[in-house]
Amino acid sequence: MHKDIKSVLFSKKEIESIVNSLAKQIEKDYNGREFIMLGLLKGSTVFMADLMKRIHLDFAIDFMVASSYGSETETSGIVKIKKDISDSVFGKDILIVEDIIDSGVTLDFIVKHLKAKNARSVKICTLFDKPHRRLTDIKPDYSGRTVPDIFIVGYGLDYNEKYRNLPYVGILKDEAINQISI
Ligand code: IMP
Ligand code: MG
Repeated sequence: MHKDIKSVLFSKKEIESIVNSLAKQIEKDYNGREFIMLGLLKGSTVFMADLMKRIHLDFAIDFMVASSYGSETETSGIVKIKKDISDSVFGKDILIVEDIIDSGVTLDFIVKHLKAKNARSVKICTLFDKPHRRLTDIKPDYSGRTVPDIFIVGYGLDYNEKYRNLPYVGILKDEAINQISI
């Protein structure tokens, strides 16, 4: 285990079974439909790579970069699109893949953005959800696990851009938080 991790919340095995079950649901619902799987960078990368391999349908993938966060653990409430979706979404079914929904501010903005571009449908698949932190009425269509109001890292989720590569999801030790990196 990484020296900065206090405890593991979801093991590699547990994540695998969560991702498998999400893939099954998506495969069933999107069978026969052409859709774009839209990952939100960078947090969704690890999850999306595993998820897409388990969905045996034909679909395109794309990515957006949007952020309501600085390097802190609280939302700023302001969303900036740093990279928009590459292809036209006009008349397309979009499945957004996100690592975790917190306030819902980021997704609320992105869903409205895609609907304004005339996407036919916009659905959300998130690995983790913190519903108690919600400031918007965003609800995921597919959700892996609900988590309490704690900051978690690993499997794509970062703290100051670190720990995304951990194959499990865990909680940081107190001494690893707010350290000034040299
Ligand atoms: P929202 O706009 O407040 O819903 O922000 C969601 C984004 O905040 C996620 O995509 C993550 O990048 C980040 N985030 C929220 N909670 C956590 C956490 O516990 N660990 C790491 N990143 C988080
Ligand atoms: Mg993110």
